[in-house]
Parts: sequence; structure tokens; C-alpha cells
Amino acid sequence: MTADIETALTINHLSLWYGDKQALDDISLPIPKHRITALIGPSGCGKSTLLRCCNRMNDVIDNCRTEGEIWLDRRNILQEESDLSALRRRIGMVFQRPNPFPKSIYENVVYGLRLQGVRDRRILNEAVERALRAAALWPEVKDSLRQNALTLSSGQQQRLVIARAIAIEPEVLLLDEPTSALDPISTLVIEELMATLKQHFTLILVTHNMQQAARVSDYTAFMHQGRLVEFADTDTLFTTPKQRRTEDYITGRFG
Ligand SMILES: Nc1ncnc2c1ncn2[C@@H]1O[C@H](COP(=O)(O)OP(=O)(O)OP(=O)(O)O)[C@@H](O)[C@H]1O
Ligand SMILES: [Mg+2]
Repeated sequence: MTADIETALTINHLSLWYGDKQALDDISLPIPKHRITALIGPSGCGKSTLLRCCNRMNDVIDNCRTEGEIWLDRRNILQEESDLSALRRRIGMVFQRPNPFPKSIYENVVYGLRLQGVRDRRILNEAVERALRAAALWPEVKDSLRQNALTLSSGQQQRLVIARAIAIEPEVLLLDEPTSALDPISTLVIEELMATLKQHFTLILVTHNMQQAARVSDYTAFMHQGRLVEFADTDTLFTTPKQRRTEDYITGRFG
């Protein structure tokens, strides 16, 4: 990676323990701004754990302890006194299974704005259209905004959840296997969507699907047993990996 690339987050010597069990071991990784960084590696290597550190979702887990730093601007977000709701406004998250609230499509999208106290109907309406357009869902739902979100297909629900996450205009979007519960067509739609989202947001994508990492990401980090084995731009990592373990994994020899 060239030194002049701007980063959205900088992970620095991050280690994490669940009780006695170490799940992350001294991870240092830049997250380039307005790019897609894929986290790949075998099951249990710590991808979701690392992702959850970026907006402190691990805080709710008992016995979970971290060392090291994650820098956002000039702040270490792992510092105890970080304002977590402010942090999560800046760093949003999308999970594997679409999880819309059992409310209307409209109310799902404005959820975060309402929490922030936005009441102006015109501002809310504009935000709904903007977020649904950005999430490539607007043409399909513009005439049914009052419909319950749970009536949408799972691919549409996942785009709705993305719209809900981006409606409050975060800087970083964390995506934990966002397409693994979707059919191939819906997967393709979300992959195309990710490519447009990076113009405005920084994306970190956890995926089991190496073709997906190769197709959509700009940078790829390969993890194994809690360690970062290799980080490079995606073309380099997939064509000329430096580490034997990376090569073995991407050629399907293990994992
Ligand atoms: N809440 C938890 N309590 C204790 N151990 C945990 C917890 N969450 C994860 N772990 C352990 O930490 C390690 C890393 O788990 P993590 O879920 O981050 O892996 P992953 O790479 O996302 O795996 P997968 O690809 O299967 O989703 C695993 O050994 C897992 O068992
Ligand atoms: Mg996981």
C-alpha cells in the first residue's frame, strides 16, 4: 500500500481476549478511506471479532478485554471514556441476517434520525429518499413506504438495513457477511451497491467468499488464528501473495 493513501481507521497493535482465550493477536492494519477492505480467513480466525472492535460492539460481552488502539481521526476509540453513541453514529454496522425492525419501511430508515431528535417531516422525507436511492431500493419501494418491512424479500430487507445504516451518514460501514444469507441475484445487487457506496463511505467487508472479496474489495486482509497474516491491495494479495499461508488459503488448500 502506498503511503499517501488516506485512512479512515488505523488499527494499531490490537489484541483481544474472551476470558483466557486470546482471539486477536497484535493486529495492525490501516483501513483506507473510501475504499472497500475485505477481511478473509478460516472460520474462527477472528474476522467478526475484529469488525466488532471498530464500533465497540464487543463491550457488551462479559470478560472481553482489549489492548492496543484503533484510531479514528486523532482519537483512540478503544479508550474507556469514548462516547459510544457518537462512535456508532460514525461507524455503522450491517449483519449477516437482515434485521429490519417490525415497522414500516419508512420508519426503519428514519429510525436513527428520530433517535437524534430530528422531527421535521420534510427533512425525514428527504433522508428516506436519499438513503433508499443510495441503497438501490427506492424504485422498488417508493410507492409502499408505509408497508411493513418484514414483507420485503430478504435481499430487499438487506438493502433496507443498509439504507437504515447510511441514513445517519456514518463514515464507516462494517459489513459482516452481508450476502451469505442471500440468493445469487440478491448477492450481485448488494455487491454492485457496495461499489457505489464507497464513493461516500469507507467499507469493511467480512466475507467467506473469496470470489466476492476479489470482485468487490480494493484491499484484502487475510487472517489466521487471530493474527493478520497479510494485507495488500486485492489484486496483489490474490495474484502474488507473499505468505505461504495466504497462498494455501486462497488456492483452497485449507480453510
Ligand atoms: N462472545 C464470545 N465469547 C467467547 N469466545 C468468542 C466469542 N465470540 C467469538 N469467540 C471466539 O473467538 C474466536 C474468533 O471468533 P470470530 O467470531 O471473530 O471468528 P470469525 O472469523 O468471524 O469466524 P466465522 O467465519 O465462523 O464467522 C473463535 O475462537 C470464537 O470461538
Ligand atoms: Mg464471523
